[in-house]
Amino acid sequence: MARSITAFTCTACGASHRKWSGRCETCNEWNSIIEEAPLSQGPGRGLGSLKGKPVPLSGLATQEAPPARAHSGIAEFDRVLGGGLVPGSAILVGGDPGIGKSTLLLQAAAAFARNGQQAIYFSGEEASAQVRLRAQRLGLGDAPVRLGAETALRDILTTLDVERPDVAIIDSIQTLWSDQIEAAPGSVGQVRASAHELTTFAKRRGTSVILVGHVTKEGQIAGPRVVEHMVDTVLYFEGERGHQFRILRAHKNRFGPADEIGVFEMTGGGLSEVANPSALFLSERGQPSAGSAVYAGIEGTRPVLTEVQALVAPSTLASPRRTVVGLDSGRVSTILAVLEARCAVPFAGLDVFLNVAGGMRVNEPAADLAIAAALLSAREDIALPAEAVIFGEISLSGALRPVAQTENRLKEAQKLGFSRAILPASTKVEGVSGMRVDRVSDLTSFVGETFGA
Ligand code: TYD
Ligand code: MG
Repeated sequence: MARSITAFTCTACGASHRKWSGRCETCNEWNSIIEEAPLSQGPGRGLGSLKGKPVPLSGLATQEAPPARAHSGIAEFDRVLGGGLVPGSAILVGGDPGIGKSTLLLQAAAAFARNGQQAIYFSGEEASAQVRLRAQRLGLGDAPVRLGAETALRDILTTLDVERPDVAIIDSIQTLWSDQIEAAPGSVGQVRASAHELTTFAKRRGTSVILVGHVTKEGQIAGPRVVEHMVDTVLYFEGERGHQFRILRAHKNRFGPADEIGVFEMTGGGLSEVANPSALFLSERGQPSAGSAVYAGIEGTRPVLTEVQALVAPSTLASPRRTVVGLDSGRVSTILAVLEARCAVPFAGLDVFLNVAGGMRVNEPAADLAIAAALLSAREDIALPAEAVIFGEISLSGALRPVAQTENRLKEAQKLGFSRAILPASTKVEGVSGMRVDRVSDLTSFVGETFGA
C-alpha cells in the first residue's frame, strides 16, 4: 500500500504545503494552515490504459449538439446561470447564514420540478418534515420535488446513481461527510472530498449538482476556496441585513458572463423576482439633495441604475473616518486622492461616508465619476441636477476615460425618466436621441463646471 503523506492546506486560499507554518506563503494569511489526511490514492496505481487518449478537436465536431439548458422559469435565477442550467454542471451557491440560500434553492428545485426536470433536494441542516413545512409556507407543497435528509456522501452518491435526477441540490456542503476521510464535517478535507466526488459525478452522469456553501465571518466559503476551483459556476447570494433585497451574483461562470446579477426581494412568502432593479434601487430616492448622484452602471449583461450617497462632515478625529458601504474602499481612497492632488479639493479634516442605496454592491470603475460627483456635491452642499445620470472612469492624472456599453446605460436611464447624462468627453454616444449629453474632459473641468470652484 502506498505510504500516505500528510498534507497541509491553507483554509483561506486552498494552497497545499509540505509542512506546517504559522503563515501561508501563498496568501500571507496567519494561522490558516491545517493538517489533513491526503485524498485516497485508490487501488490499482499502475499506468492507465488508453482511456486518457486525446481526441483531435475537429473529431469532436461530428458529435451531437450539446444538450439544451434546463430552465427553472425563475427568470432572475436562469439569467445568473448564463441562460439556464447546463446539464452535468456543478454550481456553488455561497452566502452568509440566514441570507436565504435554502429558500432560494428550494424554490428553484420546485421550479425545475414543475418544468419537468427531476429534482432532488438534500437537506443536511433540516429534517424533511421541516423542509416540507417551509415548502408549504412558500406555496410549493404540491411541487413534484423529492426531498432527502442525508449527510453521508456515499449514501447521497448511491441515491443519485440510482435515481439519476436532472438536478441535485445539496444544502449544505459543510454538513456532508465522507467515510474515506478522518475529519469532522465542515473541515477542509471533508468539504473538498465531497465537492470533488459530487462534481465528478455531475460530469460523468449529466446530473447538475448545486452545492450550498456557508460563508464565514471572514467572507470565505468556510474553509474551501478550493471548492470554487472545482465547480463550473460560483454564485454568491448577497444582501444587507435589514434590507429585503437580495442579489444573486455570478463570480465565476464557465457557461455565461461573470458579474451577472439576479435581484430578489425577501417577502413573507419567500423570494420574489425583481424584474426592474433600477426602479427598485432608485425608489427610495427623495427630493434632489446634496450628496446624491445617480450612476448608470452595467451588471453582467444588464444596465442597472443606482444611487451613490455621500456625506461629508467636519471630523473631530486625528485621522478622519472613511466609511464605505457597497463600493470598493481602495477605489474611493484613490478618487479622494485624485480630487485633492489634481483638483485642489481637500478632504483632510473631514469625515467621509459613502453608500450605495438599496444594499447594492458596485464594482465597476465606471462608477468613479458618480462617486466623485457625490463626494463633491456633499462637500459643497450643492445638489446635482436631478434629471442627470453620471458615469466615467477617473485616471490617476485626473483625466476621464470612456467606458463600455454607453448606449445600454443611456437607454436604461431614459426609460427611467432621466433626460441628461454627464460622461467623459471621449465617449462615443450612438443610438440615443432626445437626451442632453454633458461631455466632461477631465475631473478639474467637471469640478469647475458643476460646482463653480
Ligand atoms: P434561509 O433560506 O434559511 O437562509 P440560509 O439557508 O441562507 O441560511 O433563510 C432564512 C431567513 O429568511 C430567515 O431569517 C427568515 C427569512 N424568510 C423570510 O423572510 N420569508 C420566507 O418565506 C422564508 C422561508 C424565510
Ligand atoms: Mg440554509
